Amino acid sequence: MKTTKFLIMKKLILAFFLLSFYANAQNTYPVIPKPNSLVEGKGKFSITPKTKIVVSTNAPETRKVAEQLAQRIQIVTGNLPEITSQKTPNSISFEDAPALGPEAYEFVASPASVIIKASTAKGHFYGFQTLLQLLPPSVYSSSLQPAVKLTVPECVIKDEPRFGYRGMMLDLGRHYFPVSFIKKYIDLIAMHKLNTFHMHLTDDQGWRIEIKKYPKLTEIGSKRKESMAGHYRDQKWDGIPHEGFYTQDEIRDIVKYAESKFVTAIPEIELPGHAQAALAAYPELGCENKKYEVSTLWGVSDQVFCPNEQTFEFLQNVLTEVMELFPSKYIHIGGDECPKTAWKNSEFCQQLMKKEGLKDEHELQSYFIRRIDKFVTSKGRKIIGWDEILEGGISPNATIMSWRGIEGGIDAAKQGHDAIMTPTSNLYLDYYQSNPLTEPIAIGGYLTIEKVYGYEPVPAALTKEQAKHILGTQANLWTEYIATPEHAEYMAFPRASALAEVAWTKAELKDYKNFALRLKTHFERLKHLGVNYARSYYDITASTLKDAKGFPVVKLENIDKDVIIRYTLDGTEPNAQSLAFDPAKNIPINADMLISSAAFSKTGDQLGKVLTKQFVVSLSTGKTYTLADEPQGYTGGEKYALTNAIVGDLSNSSSWVGFNGKDLDAVIDLGQRTLFNRIGVAFQRASASWIMLPRYVEIFVSDDGKTFKSVKRIEMDTSDKPEYIVQQLNIALGTQNARYIKVFAKNYGKLADSHPGHGNPAWLFVDEISVK
Ligand code: ACM
Repeated sequence: MKTTKFLIMKKLILAFFLLSFYANAQNTYPVIPKPNSLVEGKGKFSITPKTKIVVSTNAPETRKVAEQLAQRIQIVTGNLPEITSQKTPNSISFEDAPALGPEAYEFVASPASVIIKASTAKGHFYGFQTLLQLLPPSVYSSSLQPAVKLTVPECVIKDEPRFGYRGMMLDLGRHYFPVSFIKKYIDLIAMHKLNTFHMHLTDDQGWRIEIKKYPKLTEIGSKRKESMAGHYRDQKWDGIPHEGFYTQDEIRDIVKYAESKFVTAIPEIELPGHAQAALAAYPELGCENKKYEVSTLWGVSDQVFCPNEQTFEFLQNVLTEVMELFPSKYIHIGGDECPKTAWKNSEFCQQLMKKEGLKDEHELQSYFIRRIDKFVTSKGRKIIGWDEILEGGISPNATIMSWRGIEGGIDAAKQGHDAIMTPTSNLYLDYYQSNPLTEPIAIGGYLTIEKVYGYEPVPAALTKEQAKHILGTQANLWTEYIATPEHAEYMAFPRASALAEVAWTKAELKDYKNFALRLKTHFERLKHLGVNYARSYYDITASTLKDAKGFPVVKLENIDKDVIIRYTLDGTEPNAQSLAFDPAKNIPINADMLISSAAFSKTGDQLGKVLTKQFVVSLSTGKTYTLADEPQGYTGGEKYALTNAIVGDLSNSSSWVGFNGKDLDAVIDLGQRTLFNRIGVAFQRASASWIMLPRYVEIFVSDDGKTFKSVKRIEMDTSDKPEYIVQQLNIALGTQNARYIKVFAKNYGKLADSHPGHGNPAWLFVDEISVK
């Protein structure tokens, strides 16, 4: 016994040392995305006023990278390092390594020098980014940092990206953002070793690129009279006009700026749908012979391009100007969310379908895309389209951007087409990242940093050969509810930092805890860069455990083990003086409780938002139950979350039990006949996530667990309501004396025609069943 304990102790001590060593080690090399090979050393290289930058390659582009490094050092030290081609000690040198891949680099830091080797200037640039991240975060500052010591820890790094396509999209159609912000966004893309900036330039709500041949596109199409102020179902507008577009000179400047950071700017011109702003300028391009307005509604518009010769001539002329501005291999032509109503009602379209032998409007969309594909391909470029362009037959040269899920990517790869993975579930940065009730309004959904980080871009359904068609991955920032640079930064970061590691780092090297540790240093960099990153990293999670005697206790946690979690039990907000949570003494729940907690720094600064959670203790707490159907998803990670004392809410540590298309049919065994008169149960509604309230709830009791008697049935109001609600039912039953209780909730069923997921089964989300 003693020996075993001793061995366990020894193991624990060893694990502790390894862990702390690893933690410290990783804090010394906090590079994001994580390099694919890093050997640590003990010494360090110091940048001094005498340090020179050596460029031993003739490539002019590498010289420009060296200049960027010299300027960075000058900004923070006041001293501009000399750039020379002569090898010299005390230097940072850029050297040729022709055997390395086009985006690969090697980085060797020793006390004598830093050497960055690559076969391309892009590789040198990535080595430069790694160098910056091995220096103190203040190296990113825009002002003199007299106290900073620019030292680089000794190491050997061999690095190259997992995927060739590593992108970030910014929706400029819904809101115009100033060129200065676009450049900042590009800087941030480059800093994360992402290489593609997808510019969504046109949409129903705005056309944002100057086209010389069609001036009305920007004269009329770049202006809308107001924007929605709230969710679609709220039907409210702000009365504030919105406008803006990029001149061709500005576009050239942006493209050139991106090139200097080794980022390819890819334009997206939406067709045949999301075209209402273009139709407002040139109504003859629609099928309906009417006047159009730039849309003031978010969502999907029925007002789409008509597939007539005039439209094709227009689009070819537009694309010709666009291709002159953007040298990228890929041109994104949209292709998503094109309702077929206008085409169904159009005599012209019906005749065209007959003439071309097209069996339905999906084939007409395919015909539309094929013609555009042919034109773009004839100019030596390639089209990218959203995954809807698979419907009605994929165009011969198209690359698919899989967004509605991963199926588009799977289909494309199986058909021998390339795909870029950008599923809403993991990579839509317009989704909420924290408790929707305390976040700025967002489109919906729920996407934490950890969920972005956990994304694996290669679908398991593909063979090794097919998987080669997965070119890479991209996060999308749609801006319906994002009107300012500060808000865009808040939504993008740090989730885009997680994307960077998904796109760059080998899957087997990914580790969320380790990433989270590096992220802390990364936050310091973002601060110096003036990026308004979100603090959801400091969200508290609460879980319940059983103590040694079997009583429920609450554990409060944050991914950052250095923070102090402070809490109150009286409903007030915690502050720097509140009780500090002691992980060795979880909080006992001996009665119904409200715990409000937040992460604080050691110096008393509040780091994240307050989490307020309700706990109930009742006759059912900790009791097991049987379910007629297994839950398909539960966010709390445990099936028995219905009786774990935590009441479901909209924070990220809720333990909702989810049923996809199935009913809740739970039988709780109280162990013996018991008197009770009340049942509490809560349901969530989050329509954008397909989570709907049940149709009705019915309570049954039984003494033998076989024959049940209905004691109450409650009809639920399932009509449209605010996006996120928790419907708490507190059901009075009259005095009951029974051992078994059945709680039945009827699933909403299939989503209605008005819902974007129409025809699919709804989720039923239920939590804490309390019996009193
Ligand atoms: C999309 O989100 N409609 C591509």
